[in-house]
Amino acid sequence: MKHCLIFLLVVSIAVSGFSQGNNYVQNYSKFDGLALTPPMGWNSWNKFACNVDEKLIREVADAMVSSGMKDAGYTYINIDDCWHGDRDSLGFIHPDATRFPSGMKALADYIHSKGLKMGIYSDAGSQTCGGRPGSRGYEFQDAMTYAAWGVDYLKYDWCNTDGLKAEGAYKTITAALRRAGRPVVLSICEWGNDKPWEWGPAVGHLWRTTGDIFNCFDCINDHGTWKSFGVMQILDMQKGLRKYAGPGHWNDPDMLEIGNGKLTAAEDRSHFAMWAMIAAPLIAGNDLRTMDKETIAVLTNKAVIAINQDELGVQAFKYTTKDSVETWFKPLKGGDWAIAFVNRSKQSQKIAWNWKLSPIKDPDFDHQLNIQTQNFNLKNLWTGKNTGTTKTVLKAEVPAHDILLLRLEQQ
Ligand code: GLA
Repeated sequence: MKHCLIFLLVVSIAVSGFSQGNNYVQNYSKFDGLALTPPMGWNSWNKFACNVDEKLIREVADAMVSSGMKDAGYTYINIDDCWHGDRDSLGFIHPDATRFPSGMKALADYIHSKGLKMGIYSDAGSQTCGGRPGSRGYEFQDAMTYAAWGVDYLKYDWCNTDGLKAEGAYKTITAALRRAGRPVVLSICEWGNDKPWEWGPAVGHLWRTTGDIFNCFDCINDHGTWKSFGVMQILDMQKGLRKYAGPGHWNDPDMLEIGNGKLTAAEDRSHFAMWAMIAAPLIAGNDLRTMDKETIAVLTNKAVIAINQDELGVQAFKYTTKDSVETWFKPLKGGDWAIAFVNRSKQSQKIAWNWKLSPIKDPDFDHQLNIQTQNFNLKNLWTGKNTGTTKTVLKAEVPAHDILLLRLEQQ
C-alpha cells in the first residue's frame, strides 16, 4: 500500500510537470488566412532608405487614400529600416524619439483610422542592415511590443545573423508573433540564400527570392561585397520558383521601383505588368505624395491588378522567346488567362501570334488553355480596349522595353 502511494505521488508529479511543460510548447506555423492574394502596399526603403519619420508616414498614408491607391487595393503602409531608437533597461525596443515623437501606437492608430494597415521592419540578427537593434535574443519581447502597437505586417531581414540558421530563426519569430496573439503577415527577407521557398510556406506569407532590386530596367549594380539587380535580372532569377507559390505563400521578387525616376514609361508598365503576372506582392516604393499622373495610372490600373490578385494565385510561366520578346501565360480563376509579350530589346519588335498552333500547358500545375477549340476575346489591359479574338492571328508592334498585356476572356 505504501509503495502504491509513493508510485501514485511520483506519477502525479510527473504528469503535472509534463502538463506545465506543455504550456511552453510553441506554435511555429504562420497565421492562416492572411495574404490569400499577394499583399499590396507601400514600403519606405526604395525611395527614402533611412530617412523615415512619422510625418512622412502619415503623409504617405494620406496620399495612399487621396491618390486612389487604397481604392485600387493597396493596404499596407510599411516602415522599413531605421525607425528604431534604443532598447530600454529591460530590453524593450523604442522608436527613434526624434523621428517618431508620438510613438508607434499613435502612428498605427492613424494608419488604421484611414482603413489601412501598418507594417514594420526588423532583423533576425543582432543588428539590422542599417545598423539598428536587431531582434536576435529579443524575439518574444519585440513581438509583444509590435502587437501592443498594432502592427499588422513584419518584414524580417537577415543582416548580422552569424551562426543562425534561417529556417529556425524565422520559425522563432513566427512562434513569438503567435504567442503575442495579433495576426501579422510575415515577410521573410533572407534574399533567397537558404531556399526559403522550400520551408517558407509554413513559416511566413512571402519570402524574398533575390537580393535587392536596383532602380534600372536591365542592369546589375555591383557594390563589391554584394549586388543589386535590375527589373529584368530579378525576373530571370524567378526561374523554377513558381511551383512554390500560392494563396497565403508568395515568392517576393522585391518592391516596385515605379515612379522613382529611372525607368521610362514603357519600363514602368513592363515592371508592373510582369510583377502582376508572376503574382508578386505589389509593394510600391515611390513617394506617393508627389506622383505624376502616369505613375498613378500604372499603379492603380485595376485590370492589371486583377491579374495579380486573381484568386487562383498561380504565377505566369514563360512560354517562348523570339527576337527578345518573351511570351508569358497566367491561368486565372474561372478559365480566363492573361498573356504578356514583353519586349526586352532596345528596338521596337513586331509580333505575330497564331493562337491555333497548339494548346498551352502549364508546366507545373494542372491548367491547360485549349486555344484550338475554345475562342476568347482579347482585352488590352493598358488601353482597356477589346482588340479582336483568338480566331485570327494577333499582329502587333511592341515598343522597346514595353509590354503588350492581354486578358483572354472566354466567349
Ligand atoms: C536589406 C533588404 C532591403 C532593405 C534594407 C534595409 O538590404 O533586402 O529590402 O530592407 O535591408 O536596410
